Amino acid sequence: MLGKTVVVTGGNSGIGLATAVGLGAMGARVVITARNAERGGAAVRSIAGRIGDAGTVELVVFDLADLSSVRGGAAEILERCPQLHVLINNAGLILSERTETVDGYEATFAINHLGPFLLTSLLLKRLIDSAPARIVNVASTAHSQAKDGLPFQDLQSTQHYAAMRVYGRSKLANILFTNELARRLDGRGVTANSLHPGTVRTGYGADGDAKGLLPLGLMLAKPFFLSPENGALTSVYLASSPDVAQVSGEYFAKCKPKAPKPAARDADAARRLWEISEELVGLSQTPGG
Ligand SMILES: NC(=O)c1ccc[n+]([C@@H]2O[C@H](COP(=O)([O-])OP(=O)(O)OC[C@H]3O[C@@H](n4cnc5c(N)ncnc54)[C@H](OP(=O)(O)O)[C@@H]3O)[C@@H](O)[C@H]2O)c1
Repeated sequence: MLGKTVVVTGGNSGIGLATAVGLGAMGARVVITARNAERGGAAVRSIAGRIGDAGTVELVVFDLADLSSVRGGAAEILERCPQLHVLINNAGLILSERTETVDGYEATFAINHLGPFLLTSLLLKRLIDSAPARIVNVASTAHSQAKDGLPFQDLQSTQHYAAMRVYGRSKLANILFTNELARRLDGRGVTANSLHPGTVRTGYGADGDAKGLLPLGLMLAKPFFLSPENGALTSVYLASSPDVAQVSGEYFAKCKPKAPKPAARDADAARRLWEISEELVGLSQTPGG
C-alpha cells in the first residue's frame, strides 16, 4: 500500500481502528475520520504507535449525522489528499430509540446510509482521477432483518421503530448502494464492494445510544466474538489485495464473495434508493458523472 492514500470512516474505534492499523502497517497514508476530535486524536496516537515507520496516519473530524459537517469533512479530505485510492465507509451504529438528525432524518438511516452516500459522492471524482481505486462499504449480515426490502413508503421509520429492523435496513441500504455504485462506475477504474465483518467485539451496540440493547446473554457471548483485528480482515483484504483488484459489485464475508439475501440483489431498489438519496442529501446530478 506504499504510495496509496486510504480514508477510513469511524477509524477511532473497533473495526475501523484495526483496519487503519492493518493498512498503515502495509505502508499506506491513512486518513481516519471521527466525529469527536478527542477520541480521534487518541486513536491517531494509538495507530501511529502500532504502525511504526511503515505508513502514516492523520485525522479529519466530521459528523455523519450532519450533512453540512459531511460536506466540510469531504472538502478537507479533498484539500489534504491530491490523490485518493481507497475509501472505506466503516462508521455505523444501532440506536435503541428513534431520533432525528439536524437535517430531520431518522438517525440510523442518516448515519449509516445518507452520510456515507454523500461523502462517497463528494469524493468520487477524486477516486476516479486516482484510479485504480476502491470503495469498501462495511455492511452486515443483519441486512437479512429487512426481509421485505427497503420500505420506500417510510424510509424514515416514522410509523414503527424497532432498532434491529431499522439497523438491518440501513445495512441493506449499504449493499444496494454498493451495487448501484459498482454499476455506475463500470469501466472507470474504481471498484465498489460491501462486506460483513463477522461478529466482532467492538463498541457496537454497547454505548449509551443503544441502552438496553445488549441483554445479559449477548454480554456473556462477547468474549467469543472476533477480535477487532480479525473483524478488520475482510476490509483490509478488499482495500489491498491484488486478488480483488478487478472485482466489483460483490458482497464478501471472511474474505470470500458471498450471495447476500435476495432483497440485497434487487437492482430496481438499488436504483430507486440512489435517486431518493440524491434528493435527500441535496445532490442534483449524478456524483462524479
Ligand atoms: N461489531 C460487529 O459485530 C459488527 C457486525 C456487522 C457489522 N458491523 C459494522 O461494522 C462497522 C464498524 O462498527 P464497530 O463494530 O467497529 O463499532 P464501533 O467500535 O462502535 O465503531 C463505530 C464507529 O462509527 C463511528 N460513528 C458512529 N456514529 C458516527 C457519526 N454520527 N459520525 C461519524 N462517525 C460515527 C463511531 O464513532 P464514536 O466512537 O464517536 O461513536 C466509531 O468510530 C459498522 O458499520 C457496523 O455496522 C459491526
